[in-house]
Amino acid sequence: MADSVLKTESVKKVIGKRTIVSDISLELYRGEIFGFLGPNGAGKTTTIKMIVGLSKITEGRIYVGGCSVREDFKGAMKNIGCIVENPDLYKYMSGLDNLRLFAKMYPGVSEERIREVVKIVDLEHAINDKVKTYSLGMKQRLGIAQALLHSPKLLVLDEPTNGLDPAGIKEMRELLRDLAEKTGLTVFVSSHILAEMQQMCDRVGIINKGRLITVKTVGELVGMAEEKTALQLETDDNSKANSILREKGFSCELLADGLHVAAERESIPVLVRELTLGGVGLYAMDRSNSRSLEDVFMKLTEPAKEGK
Ligand SMILES: Nc1ncnc2c1ncn2[C@@H]1O[C@H](COP(=O)(O)OP(=O)(O)OP(=O)(O)O)[C@@H](O)[C@H]1O
Ligand SMILES: [Mg+2]
Repeated sequence: MADSVLKTESVKKVIGKRTIVSDISLELYRGEIFGFLGPNGAGKTTTIKMIVGLSKITEGRIYVGGCSVREDFKGAMKNIGCIVENPDLYKYMSGLDNLRLFAKMYPGVSEERIREVVKIVDLEHAINDKVKTYSLGMKQRLGIAQALLHSPKLLVLDEPTNGLDPAGIKEMRELLRDLAEKTGLTVFVSSHILAEMQQMCDRVGIINKGRLITVKTVGELVGMAEEKTALQLETDDNSKANSILREKGFSCELLADGLHVAAERESIPVLVRELTLGGVGLYAMDRSNSRSLEDVFMKLTEPAKEGK
């Protein structure tokens, strides 16, 4: 079995009389980047705060590196590095002094380790400058360096790309991917932007209204987006192709620019075979457009039909 780095079992948070999240069960493994995706107010930060020990778990259990957050808080926290909301940085101190100060909170973080994390996040050139001169992306990277000081197994980041420009987002993505691949670090990262998660993560859990709707690999999500593919065909006899395919139950439309067919991915080979058997020559088949990932996300998170 793969190494389980984070496990949440039916986690619930109630604030006052309101249930903010419930029934959150997840398992993350060594070296994977897991995206926690959901619209504003879905319960991402609430869940993350319980994982990193900033907020009490109302019900359920959370284990980090096998240690229960409730029963072995210290053990669990040893395995976690996190940035929730913004990194805690002192603006008037240099990046390096921030790291040194932070390192004092952990036993056994050496000066050598401090230099190592600086290198990992690629801040060597600016580490002696005051943090107030840093760009947002640099601050985020310093925050990650801070979170990595004690060599945790799990890095938890709440919307780390918020406010970053496309170049900053790309840098963050590459940094996290690199860390996961080279050091086996597991990353739990939240976002409300699907396209970003798709590029950064191995798996994605979708949360909406405090409930985990689904957990899928990025490949599966993309597959869902491509459930029905709109194809545009060019054949030696489009109207004959049209009648053959209609007879086989495909939805077709014969237009001036070719024959348009909507087909499930698995039935595309069937379509090709039927045309060939029917004596129609196929010159070209293009995807005209497919359902976007954004559509899948909207569908999964659209106002719930069942009242809970
Ligand atoms: N301390 C609190 N007291 C009452 N309600 C709260 C509290 N904290 C969060 N909530 C509510 O819980 C819900 C989930 O909030 P949460 O911050 O976890 O969402 P989120 O997914 O992180 O959203 P965003 O994308 O906006 O950061 C929201 O409706 C919020 O108003
Ligand atoms: Mg949040």
